[in-house]
Amino acid sequence: MADNADLEKAVERLRAGGLVAFPTETVYGLGADALSEAAVARVFRVKGRPADNPMIVHVCDEAMAREVVREWPEVAGRLAERFWPGPLTLVLPKAECVPGIVTAGGAGVAVRVPDHPLALALIESFGGPIVGPSANPAGYISPTAADHVRAHFDEAAVYVLDGGPCQAGIESTVLDLMGEEALVLRRGVAEPEEIEAVLGRRVVLPDRGVGDGEPGESPVASPGVVGPHYRPRAPVVLIEDVMTLGQRIADSEGRVAIISPPGRQVRVRPPHLGIGMPGLARGYARKLYSALREADDFEPVLIIVVTPMLTDSPIWDAVRDRLKRAAG
Ligand code: TXA
Ligand code: MG
Repeated sequence: MADNADLEKAVERLRAGGLVAFPTETVYGLGADALSEAAVARVFRVKGRPADNPMIVHVCDEAMAREVVREWPEVAGRLAERFWPGPLTLVLPKAECVPGIVTAGGAGVAVRVPDHPLALALIESFGGPIVGPSANPAGYISPTAADHVRAHFDEAAVYVLDGGPCQAGIESTVLDLMGEEALVLRRGVAEPEEIEAVLGRRVVLPDRGVGDGEPGESPVASPGVVGPHYRPRAPVVLIEDVMTLGQRIADSEGRVAIISPPGRQVRVRPPHLGIGMPGLARGYARKLYSALREADDFEPVLIIVVTPMLTDSPIWDAVRDRLKRAAG
């Protein structure tokens, strides 16, 4: 765990335009001075992130959030009150002081207050907003522990603040408040129903149409929320029918890693690897990325995910989204 001396070093890094990986309640972020174009450019470079994918600005409270937006509608205040610090990211009209590189040239800036004491201490001590994309090379699995970050970046490029394993394990919900409708651009830990309760109206979900929209159509698209992501090096397949597992394993030309939820556990013998998952949604989400990493580090020819069966909740929706994109 990081101490005060580590925190001071991290702040020095940020002041010098350098990069600091920091823990949040969701995943580790790759931090840099959000108001410095050069520092943000370094994050894009180190991550290998496409320039058209904007970054979330992390702040320590509502007052700092208001400095990076041009407008702060009343609903933003209510959502902040209910969810911050926490896993809800709001997209609002960007203030002049935010360099265009942060929003990929867009008019909206994404902002959130992370719920982790080290992240809050870092932002407060630095005294300004920091960008924080997940601290992984673009497209790969997001990190939920300091060692996950260290596996990708060396100390000279990225200073890592170790805050232990992330509690939620998957990313924040991204809510676009730029237009008439409130749009969920990315499903995440904050539940749509709770957002709707605060707003007093429905939100538009990526896989739930509005008006005449058919479920399954995607009425919203945001850069970075479409296409391959959360991808291990090994190919991933999802299977629902556990009875087909034996055949899958027999068909593979080499060892496989199998990730399975309780009740659907299959006896996996060497040379293959079995990884068991918790049954409840939040536990599953917390372990998901580390399980995918463990599977990938085993260097299998294939990762098979036996999907959980009772998955009727918003967190499962977010998990399913990540699994689908891991499988491509
Ligand atoms: O939980 C999280 O949100 C983590 C932690 C570190 O805070 N961060 C994170 O950042 O997941 P990243 O960059 O991996 O994902 C940010 C998502 C992307 O899908 C990006 O396209 C979207 O948010 N996004 C960022 N800024 C946006 C903007 N101005 N307008 C629309 N979408 C935006
Ligand atoms: Mg990411």
